Order: sequence, then C-alpha cells, then structure tokens
Amino acid sequence: MSLIGKTAIVTGGSRGLGFNIAKKLSEVGCNVSLLARSEDVMRQEVLPQLTTKFDDQKHNCYRVDLSDRDELSQLHRLSVFKEKIDILINCAGITHNKLLIQTHPDEIDNIITTNLTSSIVLSKLVARKMLSQKSGHIINISSALANKPISGTVVYTATKQALIGLTKSLAVELGGKGIQCNAVLPGFLKDTLIGQSVNESLFKELLTNGHKLQLDDISDSVLFLLNSKAITGQCLTLDKGFSLI
Ligand SMILES: NC(=O)c1ccc[n+]([C@@H]2O[C@H](COP(=O)([O-])OP(=O)(O)OC[C@H]3O[C@@H](n4cnc5c(N)ncnc54)[C@H](OP(=O)(O)O)[C@@H]3O)[C@@H](O)[C@H]2O)c1
Repeated sequence: MSLIGKTAIVTGGSRGLGFNIAKKLSEVGCNVSLLARSEDVMRQEVLPQLTTKFDDQKHNCYRVDLSDRDELSQLHRLSVFKEKIDILINCAGITHNKLLIQTHPDEIDNIITTNLTSSIVLSKLVARKMLSQKSGHIINISSALANKPISGTVVYTATKQALIGLTKSLAVELGGKGIQCNAVLPGFLKDTLIGQSVNESLFKELLTNGHKLQLDDISDSVLFLLNSKAITGQCLTLDKGFSLI
C-alpha cells in the first residue's frame, strides 16, 4: 500500500522516537503534522529535516501541552483537525524513575494525562474523521515494560498497559469500518531523552543484557503496520526478547 499523500499526525514529534517516525513517514510521502510543546525546536530543527519529495507534500507543527486537560478539550480547534487525517501516531510520553511511594499525586496525574488521556482524546478526534473516510490507522506507542514490569515505573507501566487496552478495544469498535488500531511496544531505546534518563540502579537489567534497540527498529515496524490492510488490535513487541526473560 502506498502512503504517498497520506496525512499523519505524530505526537511527541519534537525529538526522539516521534521525530524518527515523522522522518520515516515524510520519506514515504506522507504529509506530517507534529504535536509537542517545543515549538521552536519543531519549527527550526525538526521540520527542516523532514523530506519533501512531492510538490504538494507539506509538513506542519503545533504547540500543544498534552498534560493540560484544558488544552486537550480544545484540540479540535487546531487547523490540522479540520483536514483529512489518515494516520495518528500517539507517541508523546513521559516517565518517572522512582518508586510509587516517592511519587507526588501531581506527577501521577501528569503521567496519566500525557501518556494515556491524550491518546484517548486524540483517538476520539481522529476516529470521527476516519469513520466518515472509512479508512485510517491509529498506532499507540506503548512499551515492553507493559508486559514486564520493573521497579520504579509503576505509573508509567500502568499507562502503557492501558494503551494496550485502548488499542484492542478501539480495534473492536472500529473493526470492519476500515480503521485499524495497533500498538508498538518498544524495548530500551538509549538514544532518546527518556532512554538517557534511565536510573541505572532501578534499571540494571535493561542496561546490562544487550537489549538496546535503534529508533529505526521501531519506526520500521510502524511503517509495516501502516502498510497492512488486515492487522488490527495487535501489539507488536520489539525488544530483542527483553520481556521474555
Ligand atoms: N526510550 C525508551 O527506552 C522507550 C521505550 C519504550 C517506549 N518508549 C516510548 O516512546 C515514546 C517516545 O519517547 P522517547 O524515548 O522518544 O522520549 P523523548 O525523547 O523524551 O520524547 C518524548 C516526546 O514526548 C513529547 N512530550 C512529552 N510531554 C509532552 C506534553 N506534555 N505535551 C506534548 N508533548 C509532550 C516531547 O515533546 P516536548 O518536550 O517538546 O513537548 C517529546 O517529543 C514515549 O511514549 C515512550 O514512553 C520509549
């Protein structure tokens, strides 16, 4: 299936995995819209690195704080939601490298809103459009930790497991209507801010067992899912076996 001319929204597109996915999508001909807080970074550093192969191919970015419930309730006002949307990649995420008993309630709320609530709200917004188009893909970036919890990631892991629930239940609601919803569960990506923030004493296993992945490993799997017409409700783990041990 050709992705040329498809319109894709990538949350967390200002750096790390979201940026890598956005770059790949632009290379295969998509029009990409980035959603994140760092507007200057997106405008000055990210957008210029996206590929523009076709005359009518265009990319854009929107400053949005996905941890802010008021902003979430106003997302529909963004011009990107007034156009056709073929692909949503829910990639924005934050973590916390500390025990639950040390985690402040505000931080718990922040992680849940950023990682989970925003993905639900955005899925609802695009599902409306995709239903009228009778086509579309939603991909949620979960984590291998969803199936292999380790100490120091309780709230993060809860949101990542919930994204699996979102993926499967949405696939049921939208199945047969041309809309596919899948999740990707990456293992350890050292080359991102989240990867670099890993607290070595809590994450010893991650750092010692040679399970580190490249961003392209994950982005290529996103493209694989987008190129399928049949896969939906599936959770693709890419972790070099980390979650099996
Ligand atoms: N690194 C890993 O080992 C790993 C493993 C499994 C899964 N993942 C998942 O991969 C995804 C990307 O993470 P990453 O590793 O690439 O980390 P990263 O480099 O820290 O990127 C996180 C992205 O999320 C955006 N973001 C964070 N808070 C936001 C907010 N309130 N509103 C809007 N955007 C927000 C950031 O943009 P701004 O700061 O500009 O807002 C940034 O673009 C996350 O969902 C993460 O859970 C990562």
